[in-house]
Amino acid sequence: MSILSGKNILLGITGGIAAYKTAWLVRLLVKSGANVKVVMTPAAKDFITPLTLSTLSKHPVHSSFTNEDDENAVWNNHVDLGLWADLFVIAPATANTLSKMANGVCDNLLMATYLSAKCPVYFAPAMDLDMYKHESTLRSFKILKNYGNTMIPAESGELASGLVGEGRMAEPEAIVSYIENDILGKLPLRGKKVLITAGPTYEAIDPVRFIGNHSSGKMGFEIAKAAANLGAKVVLVSGPTHQKASHSLIEVIPVTSAQEMYEAVHQYFETVGVAILSAAVADFTPKEVAQQKIKKKTDTLTLELTKTKDILASLGEIKKHQYLVGFALETDNELENAKGKLKKKNLNLIVLNSLNDKGAGFQGDTNKVTFIDHKDQITEFELKSKAEVAVDLMNKIISEIDA
Ligand code: CTP
Repeated sequence: MSILSGKNILLGITGGIAAYKTAWLVRLLVKSGANVKVVMTPAAKDFITPLTLSTLSKHPVHSSFTNEDDENAVWNNHVDLGLWADLFVIAPATANTLSKMANGVCDNLLMATYLSAKCPVYFAPAMDLDMYKHESTLRSFKILKNYGNTMIPAESGELASGLVGEGRMAEPEAIVSYIENDILGKLPLRGKKVLITAGPTYEAIDPVRFIGNHSSGKMGFEIAKAAANLGAKVVLVSGPTHQKASHSLIEVIPVTSAQEMYEAVHQYFETVGVAILSAAVADFTPKEVAQQKIKKKTDTLTLELTKTKDILASLGEIKKHQYLVGFALETDNELENAKGKLKKKNLNLIVLNSLNDKGAGFQGDTNKVTFIDHKDQITEFELKSKAEVAVDLMNKIISEIDA
């Protein structure tokens, strides 16, 4: 899955011959899972039609402040367009537009949108070789880079003038991979490895029965997704669950019992920088597992259970550089109990779920949590979706490991 998947990308097209390639660029961005809208300068329309671009992007294309064809002229809100965008890609960026961007000239919708946009801006210059090397163009590049905009350098090759040299807009494939790599390279957890446990464990009684719990695994899978979206390589050790992880940075290690989870976690712990144990591990397991299915010969059946190994506590004992996070599900004396676990298990952070809060807990899509860290800082959150809780948790961890 591309890092661009789900992102809102605004493509700004200006009036250069390379504009004909933007049909393919829109196609590639849409294929990568992005939502694409196009804003173009009036001059760009001489090189490619808005109809082509709106058909490919599945959105109306904007090029002026009002819809000219509409009697009751509707204002095209450049501020909304700018705010909608997660990324603004200006390709091709002519020398003229680059100069306007550098100097804040606001004489068309694209420029007004550029000045309103708060998102990262990429620009792919396209012009003839001498224009590309001209002092004033180089000055525009410098100013725009100082503004924090990212330049996708032009390529060398045959130019529309017939001359050969630098100035040809980067090919659409190159533009897409440049943006993807740039985003990936800037992700805060790039190069970090995160270990996560999720779901329930099943403790076998006989070949067909087990002791389990109602954990859905949703919280752990959301945490894995949030960590991967921030660039981390994730090892997700999961008990039996229907959840699916579809991120290239997430490796799922399926396990069944608490003992299997313990072994898998210990296999990876040494290599990770962060471990988040959100699984609902069985605290007890049958002492003996019957080899044959247990028959109902008696009126009562007594199972002898023994304690499972506390995986989280075992990591707390051996941790060195790792940032260790545990979960606590409490019904009474919540804060005190959670603080006790944080200390006893030698954690950096504990996430408290209160069973007294509506919408918090095992099965649903929402959770209400409180973070308690090793410095005794307590942060209480509103009821949120588990995806949002996961993002809050990863942000907290990033702020701690960067500190
Ligand atoms: N945990 C674990 N291994 C176990 C049991 C729990 O790793 N065998 C982890 C869970 O993943 C969670 C935290 O420990 O991060 C929960 O701690 P625990 O003390 O088990 O909490 P409770 O189940 O609430 O314990 P108690 O019943 O003692 O309150």
